[in-house]
Amino acid sequence: MGESGRKGEIWAVGGGKGGTGKSFVTSGMGTHLAQKGGRTILLDADLGGANLHTLLGMNRNRHSLSDFFDRKVPLSEIVAQSGIANLELITGSFASLDSESINHAQKQKLFRHIRALDADHVLIDLGAGSHINTLDTFLLADKMIVVTTPEITSLENMYQFIKSVYFRKLKLIFKAHNLTATIQGTWKDRATHNIRSLKELIVHLKQSSDDIRDILEREMSGFVIYVVLNQVRTPKDIVVGENLKSVCSNFLGLSVVYAGHSRHDEAVHRSINNKEPFMLLNRFSPVVKEIRTLTEIIAAEPHPLFEKDMVNG
Ligand SMILES: Nc1ncnc2c1ncn2[C@@H]1O[C@H](COP(=O)(O)OP(=O)(O)OP(=O)(O)O)[C@@H](O)[C@H]1O
Ligand SMILES: [Mg+2]
Repeated sequence: MGESGRKGEIWAVGGGKGGTGKSFVTSGMGTHLAQKGGRTILLDADLGGANLHTLLGMNRNRHSLSDFFDRKVPLSEIVAQSGIANLELITGSFASLDSESINHAQKQKLFRHIRALDADHVLIDLGAGSHINTLDTFLLADKMIVVTTPEITSLENMYQFIKSVYFRKLKLIFKAHNLTATIQGTWKDRATHNIRSLKELIVHLKQSSDDIRDILEREMSGFVIYVVLNQVRTPKDIVVGENLKSVCSNFLGLSVVYAGHSRHDEAVHRSINNKEPFMLLNRFSPVVKEIRTLTEIIAAEPHPLFEKDMVNG
């Protein structure tokens, strides 16, 4: 809750593969939310590869997350105007996000400061990959979003990323409820119980203990991952996105909502190279329309698609 009492929603954008368009989609969603009138803060957490300022047509701000980590400047003081009304940016650091440079206490402090930001939306742009700090930052969010392209390599990496997020989430739940040893024991004896996958392990745990079933159902309720398909080139690509949902629920037992797609457009590439804010200068572009639509789907609460999924099982 911010100082004004504003309860902001935190969105995190991640994904397995680099270059899928995480930063572009984050800046697009942020621009749309800001244009609707809510105070929106973008946080560039792609430590080591921070470039969100460029996508917004800004120069690098003098202050960055490095000041937060190294000079103990409060996060709220690093926020800079973006030049777009209601949209502000916390510039990333060029230091890397690995555990050696950011320890547990610093990570917890960063999370506290993020939650205390006085904004309607805080959008976190994460780097590629499944580093533990990336996963924990992703799990901090109220809305968890992955951006992929329809390319098979990108989809594979996205699936691995979602799996890593889910593993990490379960690990944290088990730890919080002192269940780690019990679960490890069950997993070790998995052959006896005929368990071959994570999904089967969860089913087994729920069947064998009412307590564990209650804990998992409580902790996992509302756990939804939104998928954005970016750089779509043909209508066939969109079918791919819609299929992702069943893959994740069949293999992992997870709820995934397909938020929508944005097409590939050379104008995006040109705009980034010219350091121009694409969303602002291309109001009639189909890409802008698509990003607005998918942002609205993610922002909708309670989620209409998710509710429908729940009803249909
Ligand atoms: N919809 C699009 N149409 C055309 N080109 C795009 C689109 N989205 C992204 N790109 C291109 O892909 C490049 C990478 O995009 P972006 O920097 O947003 O990816 P990223 O996932 O944040 O990458 P990284 O993992 O390095 O942070 C952009 O510079 C742009 O050229
Ligand atoms: Mg990026």
